[in-house]
Amino acid sequence: MENFIYANPVKIIFGRDTINEIVNEIPQGSKVLMTYGGGSIRNNGVYDQAAKALSGYEWYEFSGIEPNPHYETCMKAVALIKEKGIDFILAVGGGSVLDATKFIAAAVCFEGGDPWQILSGRSEVKKALPFGDILTLPATGSEMNAGAVITRAETQEKLAFGSAYTYPKFSVLDPTVTYSLPPRQIGNGVVDAFVHVMEQYLTYNEGSVLLQDHMAEAIVKTLVVEGPKALVAPTDYDVRANLMWASTWALNGWISQGVPEDWATHMIGHEITAFYGLDHAQTLAIVLPGVMTVLKEQKRKKIIRLGKEVFGTDGIDNTIRAVENFFEKMGVKTHLSDYDLGDEAIAKVAGRLNKRGWKLGECHNVTADLVKEILIIRK
Ligand code: NZQ
Ligand code: ZN
Repeated sequence: MENFIYANPVKIIFGRDTINEIVNEIPQGSKVLMTYGGGSIRNNGVYDQAAKALSGYEWYEFSGIEPNPHYETCMKAVALIKEKGIDFILAVGGGSVLDATKFIAAAVCFEGGDPWQILSGRSEVKKALPFGDILTLPATGSEMNAGAVITRAETQEKLAFGSAYTYPKFSVLDPTVTYSLPPRQIGNGVVDAFVHVMEQYLTYNEGSVLLQDHMAEAIVKTLVVEGPKALVAPTDYDVRANLMWASTWALNGWISQGVPEDWATHMIGHEITAFYGLDHAQTLAIVLPGVMTVLKEQKRKKIIRLGKEVFGTDGIDNTIRAVENFFEKMGVKTHLSDYDLGDEAIAKVAGRLNKRGWKLGECHNVTADLVKEILIIRK
């Protein structure tokens, strides 16, 4: 096990009827901005619950944060915050609203020129406005981590940042607010959380970090058992609760301590979304089986272990097939052609990674050429 320093300051408020708890977390007298997306929270009653809880505060709202949130949209919220003198942000939505809010919170306090530099990696975040959230879509882990992924529509770039200042102060996780999710987003959420675990588990590493490995396996077992149930029984509380908590743990930093991490699937996937607008999880469902196939020697012990512990199957190829079948079972298609993509997309994604000069994966050996190889077998 490698050395590590671990701290996670996010207060989790979990369970039914917990939205009103935000009044105990947002300092009295704060001027609050509620950020949200395209309106799902107005249809499922979450907006009303949040508005009721905020009634004792001076508060404003900023809506229209799109999936794969845009830098351009975030900057409009930054202007509103400065105009109104907002001092606390409440994000209400899925990973996109939470990620946008993290960037907005950092961009408002950024003093080094264009806040895009936070994403391009040229500047570090030195402070951010405090924020909390009410999560409506279990998937990204954004509710208990400090990372965010933002797209610049103008240049078709999708880039990530993270900082010690962009952890939520609190996250409200009420599983009942996820009952209104359409099947596509249920599937996306389960696949995203599954792949988060793989990025931290499915590496060359084997045997020395038993606790993290067992935790990782527990998280994916939960997703594999409960995910399909959520598609057929959308209002089963325990199923939703298990999925919500498992997704949070998939990316709250815990299972990555002391182990090597991959993240090649995510980085390749972000480029596919940046160019073609696919849902985040759709890109992961395409790419992960390709990464597992092309890097099967490097990852062999862990792939075999995943097969045995999670899918009850033997061997590398059977395990890769089991992963692919699971994604399909969750309704998330696993080939480029399912999304009308082919050679042109492969060339574009590999070309951009070549230009960036990135060498991805836990061994830094996933070059643009290897990315091409990975994607060709996913046609
Ligand atoms: O915009 P609204 O109207 O709210 O609708 C959303 C959106 O259309 C809808 N939705 C959310 N909760 C709902 C609901 N519909 C009905 N009932 C509910 N309870 O679902 C759609 C998708 O929402 P979005 O927030 O985009 O999905 P998700 O949570 O999957 O977030 C994806 C974003 O997170 C980033 C992705 O790259 C992508 O931009 N990620 C963030 C990470 C992080 N911060 O750690 C890690 C991830 O790997 C990921 O990259
Ligand atoms: Zn993800």
